[in-house]
Amino acid sequence: MARFNGVKVTWYGHSAFKLESPHGKVILIDPWISNPEAPKNAREMLDRVDLILVTHGHGDHIGDAVSLAKEFDATCVGIYEIANYLSSKGVKNTLGMNIGGNYNFGDIKISMVEASHSSTAYEGNTPVPLGNPVGFVITFENGFKVYHMGDTGLFGGLSVIGEFYRPDLILIPIGDLFTLGPEEAAYAVKLIRPEYIIPMHYKTFPPLTGTPEKFLELLGKEYKDKVIVLKPGETAE
Ligand code: NI
Ligand code: MN
Repeated sequence: MARFNGVKVTWYGHSAFKLESPHGKVILIDPWISNPEAPKNAREMLDRVDLILVTHGHGDHIGDAVSLAKEFDATCVGIYEIANYLSSKGVKNTLGMNIGGNYNFGDIKISMVEASHSSTAYEGNTPVPLGNPVGFVITFENGFKVYHMGDTGLFGGLSVIGEFYRPDLILIPIGDLFTLGPEEAAYAVKLIRPEYIIPMHYKTFPPLTGTPEKFLELLGKEYKDKVIVLKPGETAE
């Protein structure tokens, strides 16, 4: 069943996703593919990476971006400060943008949107401020739209993002403590009104207590059937 109109979405655990466009372009988002829940062969599962999107500066999101960008000669996209930071780590092709802006990668459009979180990296004990945290709306060549929310809490702009971009699929954090918990996530879904929902940012380590079961329980009838719970390594399309 082609719910996603030719777009393939693979979860590697945590916030790490691979999106494949109908024409075969490969986009990684928050590529911490060595997270404790990721499949052991996550790196071997990749034979091509065109674009790497990074939502913010925390280690569980920058993840393996630098080594993957070098291995696949991929372009890293992030807010201006993150793009500069990744250049300083030796990534050859980076693209800095900012909230509200769009980047056209061939016939795929990347839109940067707000997230409510923090975004400071640490080198030893020294904080490195990396701009604001963000989310991304990716509009594929066939019009299918995926909204990766990054790490975020509830904020009023979620309804504006839902209204303006009309995402078909959202990738939403539900793990609690550092992001939306199940209750907040269920409310966020009602603000955004997506067609499909994939939960993320849970179970990776013990403090993340939010579960898909709790999230499903809290979502009303209207949205329950739209949730796709993936196992790390699984693909939905
Ligand atoms: Ni974070
Ligand atoms: Mn995180």
